[in-house]
Amino acid sequence: MFPKSSVRQFSSSAASAYKVTVLGAAGGIGQPLSLLMKLNHKVTNLALYDLRLGKGVATDISHIPTNSTVEGYGPEDDGLAKALKDADVVLIPAGVPRKPGMTRDDLFNTNASIVRDLAKAAAVNAPKAALLIISNPVNSTVPIVSEVLKEKGVYNPKKLFGVTTLDVLRSSRFLSQVVGTDPTTETVTVVGGHSGVTIVPLLSQTKHKDLPKEKYDALVHRIQFGGDEVVQAKNGAGSATLSMAQAGARMAGSVLKGLAGETDITEPTYIDSPLFKSEGVDFFSSRVTLGPEGVKEVHPLGTISTAEEEMIKVAKETLIKNIKKGVDFVKANP
Ligand SMILES: NC(=O)c1ccc[n+]([C@@H]2O[C@H](COP(=O)([O-])OP(=O)(O)OC[C@H]3O[C@@H](n4cnc5c(N)ncnc54)[C@H](O)[C@@H]3O)[C@@H](O)[C@H]2O)c1
Repeated sequence: MFPKSSVRQFSSSAASAYKVTVLGAAGGIGQPLSLLMKLNHKVTNLALYDLRLGKGVATDISHIPTNSTVEGYGPEDDGLAKALKDADVVLIPAGVPRKPGMTRDDLFNTNASIVRDLAKAAAVNAPKAALLIISNPVNSTVPIVSEVLKEKGVYNPKKLFGVTTLDVLRSSRFLSQVVGTDPTTETVTVVGGHSGVTIVPLLSQTKHKDLPKEKYDALVHRIQFGGDEVVQAKNGAGSATLSMAQAGARMAGSVLKGLAGETDITEPTYIDSPLFKSEGVDFFSSRVTLGPEGVKEVHPLGTISTAEEEMIKVAKETLIKNIKKGVDFVKANP
């Protein structure tokens, strides 16, 4: 006989059916992310779209014996619309990644139009979906998607997420390396945005709030610029893909748990946030509780240190510019 908890788990997952779509599914992030979504038992229909190799990746992944169908699509035969049709969750890692020496903002010119066009298709074919934006610069691509959805009359701020989970994973890992603990026991809330100085780890809210200043400064810098380590090590072949896929799968998994009615599911994520709107910061990442409608509750930052207050001030100044850049792009290039 099953223990009580497994019976309950089995019946709740059997009751739900979720279509998840990955746009950019054949890329460095897209492939392992699609694989991880195939392993998520909440997913019953996985739709993989890319300009190239969407069908190949889908056929490959479809041989894994989990309880979901997998369909692959390319741009031909209205593939984008079919991939998106009635999706519950849409993950967007489509676009170009960084090369050494580039900031995420340097990707803006290429990725802005890719994300805008994919958002237009999502607005028409999956207007109720939760959209999880991975394509950089996230600080600007999320406002781009919101502008497109507003224009199409289907914007629901509770269902638009910038994926900042990789900053959360890196924080756990890097903190555990500094203090010599098991990373699975370290939880760090990361707020602000997803690039350089906008990434603000709230280390004062962990068990390790009294790190010596030198160690603290080095750790914060590593969390903010950890992506550069990967870009340099890959030496021109791209940025984080495998750790990012894990981060994207975790965030999508949490969104799906929320949709399925599981309680106490929280993640830091970059959203249309009330926290600093009065100061002109329309999007901000903070801890969010997820529910059947998407965002259920946006948590305030709580008690933070003077150093963190200072970092948040700097983050807000940069975010205002990054957000404006996205909004202005859609106005000039509808
Ligand atoms: N949010 C984060 O934490 C984070 C972390 C790492 C990378 N990223 C970003 O994710 C994006 C993807 O990175 P990657 O390493 O997978 O790049 P990649 O070049 O390996 O893959 C991108 C994929 O997108 C596809 N693509 C391009 N335009 C498309 C379109 N219009 N429709 C559908 N597919 C399209 C390409 O064919 C390719 O397969 C980049 O913008 C990168 O900066 C974000």
